[in-house]
Amino acid sequence: MDMSKLEIIDLHVKVEDEEILHGVTLTIESGKIAGIMGRNGSGKSTLAKAIFGHPDYVVTKGDIKFNGESILEMSTDERARLGLFLGFQSPTAIEGVTLSNFLRTALHMKYPDQKLENPIKFHRRLKEELTTVGLNETFISRGVNENASGGERKKGELIQLKVLKPEIAILDEIDSGLDIDALKAVAQAILEQKEQTGTGFLLITHYNRLLSHTKPNVIYLMHQGRIVHSGGPELADELESKGYDELIKEQAA
Ligand SMILES: Nc1ncnc2c1ncn2[C@@H]1O[C@H](COP(=O)(O)OP(=O)(O)O)[C@@H](O)[C@H]1O
Ligand SMILES: [Mg+2]
Repeated sequence: MDMSKLEIIDLHVKVEDEEILHGVTLTIESGKIAGIMGRNGSGKSTLAKAIFGHPDYVVTKGDIKFNGESILEMSTDERARLGLFLGFQSPTAIEGVTLSNFLRTALHMKYPDQKLENPIKFHRRLKEELTTVGLNETFISRGVNENASGGERKKGELIQLKVLKPEIAILDEIDSGLDIDALKAVAQAILEQKEQTGTGFLLITHYNRLLSHTKPNVIYLMHQGRIVHSGGPELADELESKGYDELIKEQAA
């Protein structure tokens, strides 16, 4: 895989006429993991949605560049085709479209020149992936996320990651609603994907545990729409011992 780089440069984002992000700068690269931590409401999901070009999240200043070129004018589909993947905080269900068909179609959109994989073979490959994350086989033949629990939806996203092999993946609270064992499995899957396909990750989370397990190259602390602190993997442990209040106060001092 080629090396890819997603740069967020002095990003200002407005939602319903209110500025939520006030100049965020960070970089995500192939084969590396960046983490963002922050309290609820600090602007983490706003950043994720802006990166994907959600129409309600308007970039008023700054830029988002993929391999040196601005993607601000691109549609969400075009961004996905570049190799960007967004795992939503609350993945929605798509009734009547099975995961198997959804992924075959998504693959075809990403690689339009390649022949669609034989559905039976593809189904078999998916089944193997399902067992590795501990999902029931029926998950692929049901509608995407239909009647799925929060944890199952998050695991379903891992399957999408494995099949689509994105250049850069942004996972918004993939750890929410997972028990400790499931969290470890998710962290393991992220590390494997990074090693095997060179995917670069931005892990957005509210707790330190996912970051303790994945040891990001860099962790950013977000507060009120700004990155107020950054550091190595030790920042996750510092947060655990000090809490947000103290860490933010220290930075302001
Ligand atoms: N669609 C929206 N409409 C109105 N306000 C929003 C919307 N999305 C986010 N916000 C506001 O932006 C701020 C940051 O929210 P969010 O990015 O979801 O934070 P986080 O993901 O860190 O919990 C909050 O004050 C939230 O109310
Ligand atoms: Mg959020």
